[in-house]
Amino acid sequence: MSLKSWKLLESNFQKNAQKKISDYFSEDADRVKKLSLQWESFYVDYSKNLLDQETLDLLTTMAEESGLNQAIKAYFEGKKINETEDRAVLHTALRQLSPSSIMVDGQDITPKIEEVKKQMYDFADRVISGKWKGHTGKPIDHVVNIGIGGSDLGPAMVTEALEFYSNNLQLTFVSNVEGDHVEEMIKKINPETTLFVIVSKTFTTQETLSNTNTFRKWFLNHAPESAISNHFIAVSTNLEKVTEFGISAENIFPMNDWVGGRFSLWSTVGLSICLAIGPKNFEDLLQGAGKMDQHFRKANFKENLPVILALITVWYNNFWEVETEAIIPYSQYLRNLPAYLQQAIMESNGKGVDRNGKAVDYQTGNIIWGASGTNAQHAFFQLMHQGTKMIPADFIGFAKPLHKGNDHQDKLMSNFFAQTQALMQGKSAETVKEELTQQGKSPEQIEALLPFKVFEGNRPSNTLFIEQLTPANLGSLIALYEHRIFVQGIIWNIFSYDQWGVELGKQLANNILKDFDKSQMDHHDPSTQGLIGYYKKFRD
Ligand code: F6P
Repeated sequence: MSLKSWKLLESNFQKNAQKKISDYFSEDADRVKKLSLQWESFYVDYSKNLLDQETLDLLTTMAEESGLNQAIKAYFEGKKINETEDRAVLHTALRQLSPSSIMVDGQDITPKIEEVKKQMYDFADRVISGKWKGHTGKPIDHVVNIGIGGSDLGPAMVTEALEFYSNNLQLTFVSNVEGDHVEEMIKKINPETTLFVIVSKTFTTQETLSNTNTFRKWFLNHAPESAISNHFIAVSTNLEKVTEFGISAENIFPMNDWVGGRFSLWSTVGLSICLAIGPKNFEDLLQGAGKMDQHFRKANFKENLPVILALITVWYNNFWEVETEAIIPYSQYLRNLPAYLQQAIMESNGKGVDRNGKAVDYQTGNIIWGASGTNAQHAFFQLMHQGTKMIPADFIGFAKPLHKGNDHQDKLMSNFFAQTQALMQGKSAETVKEELTQQGKSPEQIEALLPFKVFEGNRPSNTLFIEQLTPANLGSLIALYEHRIFVQGIIWNIFSYDQWGVELGKQLANNILKDFDKSQMDHHDPSTQGLIGYYKKFRD
């Protein structure tokens, strides 16, 4: 990496590598004030990190040196920043607080966005109110979203996250090309009252088309062909393919190629979310994201949440050589946020060549994983506390629960705070000795147990503390991560908006599928050939 600030950050790292987070707190009584931000109903504390003001200054200088200001401008203005696919990246255009024109290929895209949004909201209102009927005149009570990747993870995660705001419709998501899963779903649905929402940006995705065909076949065993239009709706950019598939024009919700799959929940891809929580809540979700967009565009880097958090990730990834980052939402509603962010972050920044097509000689996208707290505490936190790896973590929590009338919130919050405290402060040999002595253990017993009970601490985390899980706050939270991805892509000088790395597997799967019925397979490597041969014994 040739940036001047990068070299200075290396020196800063060398200078402070032996320092502990607790040392930084002892040195500066105002650390929390300096290393935390209050924005709308978000309070973000990043003081429990292995860095000081000088590190942060250098990191923000690096952001400037990377051309982040100009890059943000190009991103929001609709420049074709997805260069390898020759596309703009404009999910932000779908959630402008006060829509102003954005030009793509000489056309203002804003009026069409508003028109399609209206189409989506009208449709959702009709289904929710029961005005939209199934083919036998009964209202819809179950929506099955068929899609995969960005056409599944975002809608599924948000629908689940906003369950509190849901209406009478039951939502099910089918993604994997696994006949058993589809058959299990079929057992649970009624052909008279189920609506299938087929979501595929390209409408060429094997999983989605196969699952749709199976549901369609099952449906036609119970209903006439003419009933398809009451029960099958599609969301796609590929209107031709959808029509070929037999879905009538009025049942197609268009989307645009300037919305990337993993950033598409704000578009018609979010139709299932809109059906589950209603247009008003969906609009709040958009507005929340729109507010975060404004903050990201306008705030000084030193007070800019996505920028600060992105830079902290870069700090650990590139200077501390940390490989993974955990996301721990203290909300069961957000149990699938880590899975959603895995696609958003890893499909975006899992790149090994820079913007000039040259192999990078530094680390790029980090590995994302996690689960909801407190479940995660009883699963993998042992490794986070006492394992050999440093795992920076984002702890996400909500100050106010959605349901009143129980005494759980204080318990949840005490765990939420205790874990970042434990990770940072650890437990010294002296404290362990004292505790064991008080428990009446002999000096020999204490000596034997001591190494296992000591926590070295000094493990970093960010706390994203949000007032309450509302559609708007969820919108802001997701947008925060989206922009964090963008910033990292700029620093690492990689293209964050293509995903060529998923193509090879698809291509080979198609080749292998064709080979199942052929006797000659010697063009495969011996291992794969052996696996195919083994499978064929069960198949034939
Ligand atoms: O395989 C990766 C991917 O292209 C994702 O980027 C995308 O979200 C997913 O497949 C689904 O694609 P589509 O919406 O075109 O079916």
